Amino acid sequence: MLTRRRLLQLSGGVAALGLGGGAAYGSLVELHGLRLVRRPLPVENLPDAWVGRTIVQLTDVHVGPHVADDYVLRTFDAVARLAPDVLVVTGDLTSDERGIVEHAQRIYAHLPAGRLATLAILGNHDYGRDWKDLAHADALVAALSDRMRFLRNESIEVDGLRFFGTEDLWSEQLSLRTTLRGIDPDSPAVGLVHNPDAIDLGGWGGYRGWVLSGHTHGGQVRPPIGPPPMLPIVNRWYASGEFEIDGGRRLYVCPGVGHAIVPIRINCPPEVAVHTLLRA
Ligand SMILES: [Fe+2]
Repeated sequence: MLTRRRLLQLSGGVAALGLGGGAAYGSLVELHGLRLVRRPLPVENLPDAWVGRTIVQLTDVHVGPHVADDYVLRTFDAVARLAPDVLVVTGDLTSDERGIVEHAQRIYAHLPAGRLATLAILGNHDYGRDWKDLAHADALVAALSDRMRFLRNESIEVDGLRFFGTEDLWSEQLSLRTTLRGIDPDSPAVGLVHNPDAIDLGGWGGYRGWVLSGHTHGGQVRPPIGPPPMLPIVNRWYASGEFEIDGGRRLYVCPGVGHAIVPIRINCPPEVAVHTLLRA
């Protein structure tokens, strides 16, 4: 598992590499050059009413000391203009700092609502110190629950389509067994899991649908060849994009909105994903 210290070492290396023009470009241009990525989301046995509806995915916003509040608010405006049927926030809503719960409450007060639902899961940064401060996570959830419904190893049905969401992998609270309890593998569902490494865990049962993830930031810096050097995941295939997994699961890893620790994105623009549902 990638420790905070190792992540800082990697981040420092990348920062040192990028002290030339690349860093200036990444900091000044691409860091806030948000892309809207529109993609189909084919779901087996999708109810008629859901065909053509949109799930807008916001991930890794990282409200806190590293990401400018006005950029986050502009991103929320862009999401509002998309008028999502469901808005999902797939973790790392925050970066830890003194007073982050109050800061997050001020910013997320401006989060637009999905027409049918606004759902969220926590990412490792939302658990505070060493990713394992459950009191911190509980305080954050309590502060933001008037804006979004958090799924913490549980599922919820929205107009005939089930959404499930897990606790974060690094918090050591993630339980697929608890999350998927009572879910019929043949009924339509969409999963929210912050860290894409969780797709390789045992315990998925017969689930064959989509899992929407974030966590990687796409690596923040993508070299022309080879994987990004700064990837906080074990399975380095899952930097960003779409993956077919053994057992029929499908994974989408969104590079996300914000950044952590190093204010840099090179060849890896921030993204909001707009998933349009269709029948598989
Ligand atoms: Fe993140």
